[in-house]
Amino acid sequence: MTAHYHVLGAKQFNRPELEELFESAIRMENREIWSTDPRYSGKVMTTLFFESSTRTRLSFESAMCRLGGKVIGTENAAQFSSTIKGETLEDTIRIVSGYSDVIVLRHTDIGAAERAAKVADVPIINAGDGAGEHPTQALLDLYSIRKECGRIDGLTIAMIGDLTYGRTVHSLSYMLTNYENIKILFVSPENVRIPTYVRHYLEEKGVSYAETDRFEDALTSADVLYQTRIQKERFPSIEEYRKAEGRYIINAEILERMRKDAIILHPLPRAGEIAPEVDDDPRAAYFRQARNGLYIRMALVEKCLQYEG
Ligand code: ASP
Ligand code: CP
Repeated sequence: MTAHYHVLGAKQFNRPELEELFESAIRMENREIWSTDPRYSGKVMTTLFFESSTRTRLSFESAMCRLGGKVIGTENAAQFSSTIKGETLEDTIRIVSGYSDVIVLRHTDIGAAERAAKVADVPIINAGDGAGEHPTQALLDLYSIRKECGRIDGLTIAMIGDLTYGRTVHSLSYMLTNYENIKILFVSPENVRIPTYVRHYLEEKGVSYAETDRFEDALTSADVLYQTRIQKERFPSIEEYRKAEGRYIINAEILERMRKDAIILHPLPRAGEIAPEVDDDPRAAYFRQARNGLYIRMALVEKCLQYEG
């Protein structure tokens, strides 16, 4: 089997590769006309989503269309693919590999993208594997930080909310290890703290971090407030979820106490943790952040397909 450029997890990226992707995303963003590129006219992307999605699936599909390729797929693969008849993920991927040039996979199980890559004959892009990782979100998060703050080195980033089940914070933490003098402040309720394996990786890479349940600490120190949703669907019981919900809400009063030069990011969707009154504040960067997903995914798809020759 030939080697493919799979995107499976955030640890696979080094700094030069990230910089190259960001430069490529800037070129995508600066295109005045979204002209299609003949190199991609015969190429097909399959989006296989076993979990719900608005941004990731549609921005990947838009990215492929804007590059000039075509998209097939199912947004409810758990029900509308033959998985419901008992077909394994491996068999599904073997079959879909024959119909497409790149597969974007979102799945309920941690490690699903790695399993898919083992049997795929085309590149696999991990669009979220359960409570594991969401590497392409981390790419757009870093791209957004770089754009909004003008740099990544030297920043203090507060990750707030559900740090156990929130896969975006795992990937973002891993990817930040490529930068110098980063400080991460993990702010969470006691029952959804950042997993030990993420902390160990940061320690191995010499990244400075602290843990707290006090929102106040983030307001005064952070350059970036990375707010997240409590992942209700992943809790073992509603009682556990109740312990974590509603603890950290960014509203007008918090805006007053926040640093004037800090920004607010959120992978979205939000479920009450950022009040709509915050949206018009220039520090609210989350809608711009979601838009950046298109450019970074165009750059990523281009890279995957280039590698295929
Ligand atoms: N959309 C992100 C994810 O799929 C974050 C979230 O759902 O809260 O991981
Ligand atoms: N941020 C993110 O992954 O959004 P979706 O779940 O809507 O794709």
